[in-house]
Amino acid sequence: MGKARQGAIIGFGFIAEKGHLPAYQNRSDFQIAAVADICGPRRELARKLIPGVRIYDDAQSLLAAEKRLDFIDIATPPKDHAPIACSAMQHGIHVLCEKPLATSVRDAESVLEQAQRNRRVFFPVHNYKHAPSMRAVREIIDSGRIGPVSLVTLDTFRTQHAKGVAEWLPDWRRIRSYAGGGIAMDHGAHTFYLVFDWLGSHPLSITAKMSSRGAYDTEDNFTATVTFPTGVAMARLTWNAAVRKVIYTIHGDKGAIRLEDDDVEITVRGERIERRSIASHWGDASHKEWFGAILDSFGAAINVGEWVGPDARDAVSCVRLIETAYASSRSGCLEMSLSPVVHGIANAVP
Ligand SMILES: NC(=O)c1ccc[n+]([C@@H]2O[C@H](COP(=O)([O-])OP(=O)(O)OC[C@H]3O[C@@H](n4cnc5c(N)ncnc54)[C@H](O)[C@@H]3O)[C@@H](O)[C@H]2O)c1
Repeated sequence: MGKARQGAIIGFGFIAEKGHLPAYQNRSDFQIAAVADICGPRRELARKLIPGVRIYDDAQSLLAAEKRLDFIDIATPPKDHAPIACSAMQHGIHVLCEKPLATSVRDAESVLEQAQRNRRVFFPVHNYKHAPSMRAVREIIDSGRIGPVSLVTLDTFRTQHAKGVAEWLPDWRRIRSYAGGGIAMDHGAHTFYLVFDWLGSHPLSITAKMSSRGAYDTEDNFTATVTFPTGVAMARLTWNAAVRKVIYTIHGDKGAIRLEDDDVEITVRGERIERRSIASHWGDASHKEWFGAILDSFGAAINVGEWVGPDARDAVSCVRLIETAYASSRSGCLEMSLSPVVHGIANAVP
């Protein structure tokens, strides 16, 4: 094994501390050499948890001072993802970035343009794909047992919005200027990249409805029907449920898969043929067990110079769907078209 890739975490909050750092500290091919965070107590915690780390007050001072970084890992709230990613790539640094890629299609596309122009990898954290139960779903689909997938339903129940670290702004997910939206922006990416994978195509149109129970300027209920060349996906996301749970169903022409957290059930020609429980730790919001596979893929993309791969293109498609969903909801659930995919990225035509 060669020298470890040297990296920096930008935004040392919940997911960086509990999800990303344990994975870095568990392997020898990536090393966190620097951290930038705008919050003093978070900087102090990073200093304590990462021996010898160099600490900065913000991303720009880190990028100006650090001359030997191979990559940065962006784990700030969404509104800063695109500007920090573009800046890093202009400094010649590869970028791993939490979801959603950006809060607008224009920003998301600018990130991929910078990746191509500067010949640096942009890689999104699409970690739900790597949950053990999701890997099992992929294997079942690949086995042909349920036939080609044509219908998918995705329910994500949360009892409240996820909280950020107490030392900074725990409710930023409810504030549009930080989050870019509510549950659709926060959780829509996970929902849609799974659907792209299962239906094996990119969307043609979407109709969506959103509502909010609270006083915030962002939605806490989201429903959408998305039409694909290969089928239909129906999604329901809420922060107002009485239980934390995901329930996904995936239907082919021979059978169906039902996933409820760790439980995966397969039905073929109307008969339940298998039910297994696959420990995936859905209740642990850090999803730290799933992050190692992201680092493997990020490292592989750097090795082969895949500046913009399928996951990066999916990340832009997710932002486009979310942006179009907001437009649909504003216009009374009007069905809105997305033009055919160009280089894996669809163009919205409201
Ligand atoms: N993939 C997943 O399963 C998953 C899970 C949780 C969070 N996330 C994503 O991770 C990101 C962070 O979420 P979180 O829950 O860790 O939030 P958090 O509030 O716990 O952490 C954010 C951190 O970023 C810092 N920060 C804010 N703006 C900054 C800036 N411009 N520059 C540097 N530091 C800045 C804050 O001080 C804080 O320490 C979000 O994009 C969120 O969607 C993903």
